[in-house]
Amino acid sequence: MEERIIILGSNGQIGTELAAALREKFGHTQVITSDIRPPQIPEGYSLFEPVDVLDREALHGLFTKYRPTQVYLLAAMLSATGEKYPRQAWDLNINGLLNVLDLSLEHSVRKVFWPSSIAVFGPHSPKANTPQYTVMDPNTIYGISKLSGERICEYYFNRFGLDVRSIRYPGIISWKAAPGGGTTDYAIHIFHDALKNNMYNCFLSAETALPMLYMDDAIRATLDLMDAAPDKIRIRSSYNLTGVSFTPSMLAAEIRRFLPDFTISYADNDPRQAIADTWPNSIDDTEARNDWGWKPAFDLSRITEVMIGNLSEKIHIEDGKSI
Ligand code: SER
Repeated sequence: MEERIIILGSNGQIGTELAAALREKFGHTQVITSDIRPPQIPEGYSLFEPVDVLDREALHGLFTKYRPTQVYLLAAMLSATGEKYPRQAWDLNINGLLNVLDLSLEHSVRKVFWPSSIAVFGPHSPKANTPQYTVMDPNTIYGISKLSGERICEYYFNRFGLDVRSIRYPGIISWKAAPGGGTTDYAIHIFHDALKNNMYNCFLSAETALPMLYMDDAIRATLDLMDAAPDKIRIRSSYNLTGVSFTPSMLAAEIRRFLPDFTISYADNDPRQAIADTWPNSIDDTEARNDWGWKPAFDLSRITEVMIGNLSEKIHIEDGKSI
């Protein structure tokens, strides 16, 4: 069966690369990208429609026009920005999801992807190798909205038979499109500042360990989950998933293999520290491995190598353009 795919929130860090991967897999004409605003650098070949996921009428129009078989909902407000605008974060993350789930049922969409996050865990969740099922008491609005979203997704599967699939993404490290408003974003900023200034002032403390995933692994996991036979997907809330766990000081040491004079300092009292302190240090993703064959390919040393290689080229090209 021919797939028609809508990606909502396609301008963001994940959407940008997921759109490219889905176009590669299903063909350019089969993928419709959509975000609240057109992309800054429009891609000539892409089918793009500006839509606000909170505008149910506009979304309805989009679904009617393209009759999607798959929908990926990536529009969301992340953890740090969410703490600045809690009401808007809840509204976007929950009402956007409800709109998409309802319209997916109404339009007989075959599969829906919605990302959850390690932010669903909280101060009383076990920190090391956090299991799939455990205490979950998130205390950020982002984490609360993601945990609620997980319960809603599972409910729509059980109650209405909607084939919705989800991953609890850890911090995602990438170089193509900028991240926005996350607590794990230090692990991207550090590379930009290292290459531009040979120094970085980190908003998390030296020993704050967080689970992370390189973008290529995140995209592969997403496509594999969406490809899996429905009976392999035993978890309809969201799957634990991880690549590698490290601290800012471990990452700084890896960067020094390439930039020996790189220095790192640590900020006091950044509000993102309090968020990171409630999240897992590492994740147990046994269920994803057993159910649909998940296995990460990028460890810390490989992530560092590809980030430095790709970003130095990108910065070089951008500097060339600005001269
Ligand atoms: N990367 C996200 C954040 O830091 C976590 O899902 O908000």
